[in-house]
This record gives sequence, C-alpha cells and structure tokens, in this order.
Amino acid sequence: MKIQSLRGMPDLFPEDLQKWHTFESKLLEIFHCFGTYEIRTPLLESTELFSRSAGNSSDIVNKELYSFFDRNDDSISLRPEGSASVIRAIIQKKQEQEKHKLWYQGPMFRYERPQKGRFRQFHQVGVEYLGFEEGISEYELISMVLQINKLIGISNYTIKINHLGDANAKESFCESLVSFLNPHINELHEKDQARLESNPLRVLDSKEKSTQELLEAGPKFQDFISNESKNFLQNLVDAYSNHCDIQIDQSLVRGLDYYTGIVFEAVSQELGAQDAFIGGGRYDNLSNQLGGKDMHAIGFAIGVERIVELLSAEIIKPALKVGFIISGEQIDKKTYKIADDLRSANNSIILDTFLSNGSLKSQLRRANKNNCSYAIIIGEDELKNNQVIWKDLSQGGEQELLSFKEVIEKYTNLQEK
Ligand code: HAM
Repeated sequence: MKIQSLRGMPDLFPEDLQKWHTFESKLLEIFHCFGTYEIRTPLLESTELFSRSAGNSSDIVNKELYSFFDRNDDSISLRPEGSASVIRAIIQKKQEQEKHKLWYQGPMFRYERPQKGRFRQFHQVGVEYLGFEEGISEYELISMVLQINKLIGISNYTIKINHLGDANAKESFCESLVSFLNPHINELHEKDQARLESNPLRVLDSKEKSTQELLEAGPKFQDFISNESKNFLQNLVDAYSNHCDIQIDQSLVRGLDYYTGIVFEAVSQELGAQDAFIGGGRYDNLSNQLGGKDMHAIGFAIGVERIVELLSAEIIKPALKVGFIISGEQIDKKTYKIADDLRSANNSIILDTFLSNGSLKSQLRRANKNNCSYAIIIGEDELKNNQVIWKDLSQGGEQELLSFKEVIEKYTNLQEK
C-alpha cells in the first residue's frame, strides 16, 4: 500500500508555488514600506495558550485543535492561528509596554471538514500591531489590506466591517440575543441551536435562511455600542468607500472570541462558499487573558491558499531562462567554471543546466520545453578554443560563436526582449 498524505493537507508543487512566490515577494515590499518587521514563533505551543485565547466556546478550540500529549505528558497543540503565539512571545519577553508592528507567515492547523478553499493544514500571512489604541492603526491596517490587493491585482472584493464595542457591550448584546432567540429555539436549525448554547454570537453568521429571517426582528449590535464607536466605524467606512467596496455588516462577529472593537473581513465571490481571504480585528483583552499586562492589539491574517486563487496571472513575471548545454562525451572541468562565472555575473537569470550527457538535439528540445529564451552550447571543439555557441531560441535559432569573455559580457547585460 502506498502511503498517502493526510486528508486536508495537500502537497504544494513547483507549478503551484509560482503564484505563492510572486505573492510573497510583493508582500515583502509592502511590509518593508510600512515599517513592519517579521516575527517567527513555534508551530507547537502548550494547549492552554489556545484554549485561553480563542475562547472556550469557539470551534477552533472545541473541535478543531490538533492536540496531543508529548513524551512528558504535557498537552501541546499545533497552532490553529498566529495571534495568540505572537502575544505570548511579547509577554514572555516582557515587552507589552512597547510598540510593535509585526508580521508572520507559516502553516496553521485546524481539524475542519475539508472542502474547496478549506484545509486542515493551510497557510496564513498575518500582521499584528501591538501597543496602539483604537484610532489611526485601524486606518493603517485597512490601507495595508487595500495596498496588498492592489499590488497583486485583486479588484473584485468586498470589505465587510463591524464594531463589536467593548467587552461589556458585547456581553449585553449577547444576553439580549439569547433572550430574543430562546423562545424561538425550536424554529432554529440544529446547528444554530447548538451555537445558541455554546457561542450565541455565532448564530449571527448562520447560513440558514430561516435563522437570518428570524434575526431581522432581533437585537442589533449597533444599539449596544457607544456613539463614539458607531462614529468611529462610520468614519472608517467613509474614508475608504471611494477606494473599495466597504460595507458595514452587523452580523460579522468572527470565529475567535477575543475580538472587541473593529472586526473586518475581505471576501470575494470568486472563491465560492469559503469566500473570506482576509480576516482580522482588534483584540485588546488578549494580553490580560494570557497573563500579560494591558496591551492594545489589532491585526489581520490572510489565507494564502485563498488569496493566491485570486491573484492575477498577469503579475507573474517569468524569469529569463538560458539553457546551458554541454555537448560531447568529454565534460571538462572548464564547463563548470563557465556556469559558475555566468551565475556570478548575473543571478537574475535562470541558467538551466540539464546535467546529462544527452545528445545536443535532446538537450535543445529540453531547453525549448523549459521555455529557455537562449542556449549556450559548449562542444569539445569550442572548449578547445575557449569559445561557446550562443543560440537565440526564439528568433529562428540564429547563433554566433563567442569567446568566454564575450559570453560573460553578453550574459551580464542580457534582458528580456
Ligand atoms: P481567521 O479568520 O480564523 O482569523 O483566519 C484568517 C484567514 O485564514 C481566513 O480569512 C481564511 O482566509 C484563512 N483560513 C482560516 N481557516 C482556513 C482553512 N481551514 N483553510 C484555508 N484557509 C483558512 C485568524 O486566524 C486571526 N488570527 C486573524 C487575526 C490576526 N486577527 C487579529 N490578528
């Protein structure tokens, strides 16, 4: 029996990763110009970190955590998200009172039912701004989301945004929602009945039509948050409404319990049922919840598998490729030296070496198949005379004889036609 990968944990092959690399390099440009710095935390953490941060009622902790006991009988878990680890790291370093603009990336693990766009191992790129109270940081993060989408060619998306008020407002709203829904409990779908029991706020983003109809007459978040919060939300929306489709969505509560204040998601219809490709918000209480000092916190995470689905193919610029063909039995050490010199002269070009003694014809076929624009061919006669053949593969195969010195010079200045 052949061994298979685990369900919901796909392999990623070079052809898949081309888009990932373009996305990652564009993101680095953005993080650089926002003055945001990378942090790396472990994939494994103590289970308590996630049960205390995500909230006992969230699915992420109740059903989806990959937890097991290590050899010391300690309960440890694969991280389902990055924010809790970042906060843990800052508390551990006793830096809660400093300001941090951080980003991270890597695999996350959730035992969910796999489907299109939903995996058990998936990847996030996250941003966390720590130490900044509600205000300009909300603006900066929404700006960053817009810039990311623009730079990678995503235009067809909506930003859904809501304000959850402070912890008290959230609690009073929750109570009111429960009192409103309890008399109608039998009209709710089984799933929503369970949600009402474990995490009432999640009933708001139920996909059941009958639940949504019932909620129309229910309490509204807006009535529980202060005027200040309402104005903040409205001003934020107004500031961006000329630049993107941004809409207040009062049913947006998000899956993790730690949010208070602004929450948002970027969604795209092109993704099907799993339409959120960015999610985030403010979570000022998490540091306290994890035993740290007061620390403001706001951030978001991008689902990489989902965002690369949307990435416009036009922004992928294939690197210039030159085939390096050694023809003849006698492979002289000199040829390695030439390849080394070429790569040192211009490392933006892919020097595609075929590492075989195949015939000239078969290597040229390979070079064409691999989309090489040019080929450098070195046969025994050329080698003796310190020369190579330079062949233009796109222009009807024109070729010329160049000295070693000339080929290095040509390679150094080579550009895509
Ligand atoms: P989240 O909404 O749970 O938030 O995840 C963020 C994004 O990760 C989602 O919008 C989605 O694109 C992607 N994602 C989540 N689960 C899966 C899955 N099973 N398969 C594929 N993609 C998935 C958080 O994780 C928060 N830590 C975000 C945050 C950072 N809030 C504040 N700072």
